[in-house]
Amino acid sequence: MIATVFSAGIYGIEGYLVTVECGLVNGLPSFELVGLPGAAVKESKERVTTAARSIGMALLPARKTVNLAPADIRKEGAVYDLPILLGLLAAQGNIEQQLPDDSVFIGEIGLRGELRPVKGALSMAMAVQQAGKSKLFLPEGNAEEASLIGNDLIIYAVHHVEQILDHLTGKHPLEAYVPEHLVQDTPDAALDFCDVMGQENVKRAMEIAAAGGHNMLMSGSPGSGKSMMAKRIGTILPPMTPEEKMDVVRIYSIIGEGSRAARSQMRPVRAPHHTTSAAGIAGGGKGIPMPGELSLAHNGVLFLDELPEFRVDALEVLRQPIENGTVSIVRTAGRVTYPARFMLICAMNPCKCGWYGHPSGRCRCTPAEVKKYRRKISGPLLDRIDIQVHVRPVPLKDLSERKPAESSADIRARVIAARERQQARYAGTKTRCNADMQPAQLAEFCRPDAAGQALLDAAFKKLGMTARSYDRILRLARTIADLAGEERISAGHIAEAIQYRSMDRDGA
Ligand SMILES: Nc1ncnc2c1ncn2[C@@H]1O[C@H](COP(=O)(O)OP(=O)(O)OP(=O)(O)O)[C@@H](O)[C@H]1O
Ligand SMILES: [Mg+2]
Ligand SMILES: [Zn+2]
Repeated sequence: MIATVFSAGIYGIEGYLVTVECGLVNGLPSFELVGLPGAAVKESKERVTTAARSIGMALLPARKTVNLAPADIRKEGAVYDLPILLGLLAAQGNIEQQLPDDSVFIGEIGLRGELRPVKGALSMAMAVQQAGKSKLFLPEGNAEEASLIGNDLIIYAVHHVEQILDHLTGKHPLEAYVPEHLVQDTPDAALDFCDVMGQENVKRAMEIAAAGGHNMLMSGSPGSGKSMMAKRIGTILPPMTPEEKMDVVRIYSIIGEGSRAARSQMRPVRAPHHTTSAAGIAGGGKGIPMPGELSLAHNGVLFLDELPEFRVDALEVLRQPIENGTVSIVRTAGRVTYPARFMLICAMNPCKCGWYGHPSGRCRCTPAEVKKYRRKISGPLLDRIDIQVHVRPVPLKDLSERKPAESSADIRARVIAARERQQARYAGTKTRCNADMQPAQLAEFCRPDAAGQALLDAAFKKLGMTARSYDRILRLARTIADLAGEERISAGHIAEAIQYRSMDRDGA
């Protein structure tokens, strides 16, 4: 007897439909699982066997074969417990042999038959819908994230396998899951820009970075507030669009944090420690490669504190995502490409001892040492950072006055207004913000007025700028004008943009 049950799998970020065929023939008792099962899938046999006994439907002592199709994609995770159990129960006649073919089942099963959440549920739900199936039975803990895909798919949130049996036999039909109105978390009240005294120029640079999606590097002596300010960047970023949020939840779902991500409207902010390995940054691990920090920062911020302390190979993996917004990971188990479009915020000291340029004159590094320290950050990386600012020590006056600075909410309101201008400008194109602008768009949208052009030309000659920094200044000036609510880029906008290219001037 053979029973067929539909389920789903995930490879990288893409879900796909899986057909689970369960066969039963007389003979020496055995349990074969085929179709490229990974370790967790193989252990399914033990869980399913024990769970079946717990619910009083012990598996028959026969030759059991379970095939997971398509057979050429590696299957991982415990998601097939539920379809395997249902398939075997159907094959041995405990339940109707023909399981509904508009229904898909995913879920790990505990020894008592309780359902446990699985990883990747949202991507699987999307695949189920695309495959034309209309009902998805999944563990309660996955319902919140899966329901983000909307009303076209009926979701049944289940906590015990007996509920499904009662539903299938018509004894107790399940009710479709209705998503609660998700509680949207607001920016973390414990972190706010109002705690940051002085540093007006750095805060302004952060506002511009947030408004245009620009990468930013802060360089300054210890204790000047670099880390403190970077930690607050999330509080001034615009909320995610529904599509952006879906992508973020799909990624977090793969590492088992889908429901927490589903509840949040905040963009992710990741701050990996400088000892993190290249695999930790880019993604990897045993089996199908898992997303790394670059992808967990997708649609949000990647903050690299103490930039020169990072391993060279860990910084090397930043290049592809900064260039095209994705990261590809190649392992023996296969190649996976994850989205990785983030805003990069970096902080560093200007020299090894940290005090170069400090008014106290404490720095004892030689000019050669200073150069060497800065050269740790490769040209190609630096080239992709639109905003570079020196962070000076906070003057005592600013600290002692302690008068509350402008709040994150006020800054965020300006950022949101500037983003809305950009969305209107780039509607219908792939560009989402000024930092993404393509060369043709630069020519179209970044034409300064006569005085602005004259200033830019003069700076180009005087500072010996490259064509790349020229474009970058135009992009930044575009954001500065957007913050001011102005369509035309003027000399004032250009002048401010030039200030944020301090490294170009230092020749570092
Ligand atoms: N502008 C500021 N306003 C209020 N407090 C500040 C400011 N700058 C620094 N501080 C205080 O000093 C502490 C240290 O600052 P922070 O860790 O951000 O410095 P840093 O620039 O990252 O230094 P390092 O180079 O050593 O990493 C902060 O936690 C905060 O308490
Ligand atoms: Mg710091
Ligand atoms: Zn020094």
